[in-house]
Amino acid sequence: MKRDIVVYPDKRLKLVSKEVVSFNDGLHMLLDDMFETMISKNGVGLAAIQIGVPLRVLIINIPLKDKEKGEDQPKENTLEIVNPIFLERLGSTKFEEGCLSVPGIYEYVERFQFIKVVYQDRFGQAQEITDDDFLAIALQHEIDHLEGRVFVEKFSILKRKKFEKEWKNRKS
Ligand code: CO
Repeated sequence: MKRDIVVYPDKRLKLVSKEVVSFNDGLHMLLDDMFETMISKNGVGLAAIQIGVPLRVLIINIPLKDKEKGEDQPKENTLEIVNPIFLERLGSTKFEEGCLSVPGIYEYVERFQFIKVVYQDRFGQAQEITDDDFLAIALQHEIDHLEGRVFVEKFSILKRKKFEKEWKNRKS
């Protein structure tokens, strides 16, 4: 089922999400709902808190190239990541990011270049990812959501001021 996206500056986006302990139907339903919601908004990543659920769960689905729109993000291509922990973070890079909770805003922010993450899949099995490309960026963005952080917090002071002003005007 498609769920509503929690939009900035909703206070729920500041919550530190809790560890998942039950890898049951409830979790699987949450993951399936997150997928439907993300795809309906053409997103590439979504954390559970973005649909109002403060659990350490996120999904990432990087679109395949050379495919018709709508068919380029098959569900089997979705990474389902529960209770992620960084083992390594190295280097730095800048990438233009966006966020379904801050729709229409795209900005370059600084991230680590290389990451190694351990996590559990929907069945509680331990998994590991190492990456130094777009997946590394997406993971850092989504894991920030689990810590109650939104990417606008990484803007420079001037860009942040400009953004907050524009965001307020847009909403009123
Ligand atoms: Co986001």
